[in-house]
Amino acid sequence: MENHTKEELQDPTMQVSSLNCIDLANDDLHRSVVSLKQACLDCGFFYVINHGINEEFMDDVFDQSKKFFALPLEEKMKVLRNEKHRGYTPVLDEILDPENQVNGDHKEGYYIGIEVPKDDPDYDKPFYGPNPWPDSDVLPRWRETMEKYHQEALRVSKDIGRLLALALDLDANYFDTWEMLGKPIATMRLLHYEGVSDPSKGIYACGAHTDYGMMTLLATDGVMGLQICKDKNAKPQKWEYVPAIKGAYIVNLGDMLERWSNGFFKSTLHRVLGNGQERYSIPFFVEPNHECLVECLPTCKSESNVPKYPAIKCSTYLTQRYKETHAELSIYNQEI
Ligand code: OGA
Ligand code: NI
Repeated sequence: MENHTKEELQDPTMQVSSLNCIDLANDDLHRSVVSLKQACLDCGFFYVINHGINEEFMDDVFDQSKKFFALPLEEKMKVLRNEKHRGYTPVLDEILDPENQVNGDHKEGYYIGIEVPKDDPDYDKPFYGPNPWPDSDVLPRWRETMEKYHQEALRVSKDIGRLLALALDLDANYFDTWEMLGKPIATMRLLHYEGVSDPSKGIYACGAHTDYGMMTLLATDGVMGLQICKDKNAKPQKWEYVPAIKGAYIVNLGDMLERWSNGFFKSTLHRVLGNGQERYSIPFFVEPNHECLVECLPTCKSESNVPKYPAIKCSTYLTQRYKETHAELSIYNQEI
């Protein structure tokens, strides 16, 4: 929390959320599962500590991310997002809350997924493919750093997945199969926010949304900005800041897990407000395999609690959600 200004911390109107903290190194598995379950039922947001990713490495990933965004726009446009949803997304490319936003999000980003080469039988699937990479002469070691981070974050996701399975009364390995997290769609996204948000004018660093997948592991540089709204139907809505804890992930559940759990586990509305400071974050979005049928889990239904959501294939669901929130790629053709 070292980056918070005195004014922020003294502002009595600034609501701060307190979240459960899951320690992955804790031997008391039962206690971790109880605490996790409570967080999932309450708001689907929690901290994860002792995940095994070392802090110096994390700092290195953030340094490399900053180096990329500091490049001239022309250089960044060379790795513009492709139809597989990999690569650079310019400022305003995405609009997460069209009803309340005048323009798109005031952030730029870079999507990196699992490297799927051309000769892989899954290559034709929409979210699998090779990543575009910035020129290694321009950014040496960049690709290696990002690929290593992707692997490590995926390992942590699988560890959390086991606790989630237990919290859902499933076998601990339930999400470890090929169609779940064995060959998942797992996308990390470097983000860079700038500017001051003004909700009264519809200007947001990142508009209010829920995440689409199973869960998201968020790392930030400590600059305040993320807010959650536990009750989206409250009028007026109450937004609470989620402070960063050095070395901890902020993890939140996404809509697929809400569907899987029949609405039992929450995918909570969140957004980012800019305060004029530059802010860097790296969400790691965990979605199951393309082919995975997201349907009510066996432990979440009964005669009196029938499935609320129809079953849907992961890639169909994700394609739809990306389409709703990202600009058509063709708009960039005239600009470069
Ligand atoms: C997101 C998101 C929060 C942040 O990208 O889905 O909620 O702090 N990001 O960047
Ligand atoms: Ni999000």
